[in-house]
Amino acid sequence: MSSFAPSTLNPRIKNVQYAVRGELAIKSEKYRDMLKNSDHGLPFDKVITANIGNPQQKGLDQPPLTFGRQVASLLEYPPLMESGKNIFPSDAIARAKELYTEIGSIGAYTHSQGVPFIRKNVAKFIEQRDGYPSDPNHIFLTAGASAGVNLLINFLISDDKSGILIPIPQYPLYTATLAQYGGIPLPYYLEETERGWGTSTEEVERAVKKAIDEGVKPKALAIINPGNPVGSVLTYEEQASLVKLCEKYDIVLLADEVYQSNIHTDDAKFTSFKKVVCDLQSNVALISFHSISKGVTGECGRRGGYFECVNVPDETVALLYKMVSVGLCPAVGGQIGVDCMVRPPVEGEESYGLWKKETDTIHKALAERTLFMAQRLNSLPGMSCAPSPGALYLFPRLHLPEKALAAAKEAGRTPDNFYAIALLDQTGICVVSGDGFGQKDGQAHFRLTCLCAGVEAYVDKLEKFHREFMKKYE
Ligand SMILES: Cc1ncc(COP(=O)(O)O)c(C=O)c1O
Repeated sequence: MSSFAPSTLNPRIKNVQYAVRGELAIKSEKYRDMLKNSDHGLPFDKVITANIGNPQQKGLDQPPLTFGRQVASLLEYPPLMESGKNIFPSDAIARAKELYTEIGSIGAYTHSQGVPFIRKNVAKFIEQRDGYPSDPNHIFLTAGASAGVNLLINFLISDDKSGILIPIPQYPLYTATLAQYGGIPLPYYLEETERGWGTSTEEVERAVKKAIDEGVKPKALAIINPGNPVGSVLTYEEQASLVKLCEKYDIVLLADEVYQSNIHTDDAKFTSFKKVVCDLQSNVALISFHSISKGVTGECGRRGGYFECVNVPDETVALLYKMVSVGLCPAVGGQIGVDCMVRPPVEGEESYGLWKKETDTIHKALAERTLFMAQRLNSLPGMSCAPSPGALYLFPRLHLPEKALAAAKEAGRTPDNFYAIALLDQTGICVVSGDGFGQKDGQAHFRLTCLCAGVEAYVDKLEKFHREFMKKYE
């Protein structure tokens, strides 16, 4: 046996699961390769990537915001700050020069917590958003929100009786990271209604009490707001009630707010947990995460994000610093992306017009597609789709006939996975089945993103498939 055989490795690695890039995504890549040959023999001519919130991925092609890319280009090749005066707008050059003075070459390691100047800009952004002070020394720039979540879960899992409350359905980063560190996932169930998905404090408290009864310490409550995969946006009252629950049980609040600017309706409003904690003068320890991967920036590949620590003891912040310093520093390109996200061009600056046009176009497209898709899916037999006022996804529920359930069982698959595989095989549409996010027993869902252009044709295909599938097993 090889000394590097799986059986010789950390056994926790085996338990890690991450459906967003799982079997369906791998198969879709295989199909994409096959389609390069004219005699591919597949019943479709294109793979539709609806499985992942990766806006700039090939096939989704959301254009990057020009300002951020101009600043990034200038910092990549500083001589352009002089020679590119006819190509780059003056405010992009000024921004790049300002950042260059602070950072120097992007080829050098920075402060392990992130460039201090950029952290100050993040703090100002937070202050403007919430109306409360923010301490740049309690902000950590990270390689995407994922790196921050991973670090915090590593910190919180102190023994084999440490649990973290996670929403079900959830973004699988949470269960995957808990599996990696041997923490116990404590599921609390989101409630699906015709009006949308909700988070009830009573349900979270039920999960807290169950954990305590079973001898598990609920160390933290993870909340994804706006939600992935469900697209819900919490009301202020819901947030306040959750903060009070954390106070009552001395639980750390992990607020995943990476979709904070993806709000599609006038009724929904994003409020940060930082603001709620400050409004309530609460002493709850809060870590809130943000990212350049979502929103309108969509720069997933640059790996930029940050987290802010509120009510966290200085000694713990020092330990966080110690641990991030082992990794030297977050990627500098990602840090520059964070600066552009928290300091976009403002009215009166040369780049403002274009930035406004680009961001308005993305917001409008996402809102229109989300509404259009939900309406169309809702009109199908055997499918219901709760509205999704935020984030980038829909999470429709499948009500499949008995014969389909039996066929899935026979194939050794969950019903929604069986459905999603058939959808991919027959139409090239790649979604993620609900079992990858968790759901109540006996339910079936799938997640699809609202990022695909040409949505009419794509929904037509999905509808046709769905009707045939239902007929086949009726
Ligand atoms: C809820 C949520 N949190 C965190 C992330 C991680 O994002 P990133 O690491 O790219 O910032 C994602 C990515 O899809 C997400 O949906």
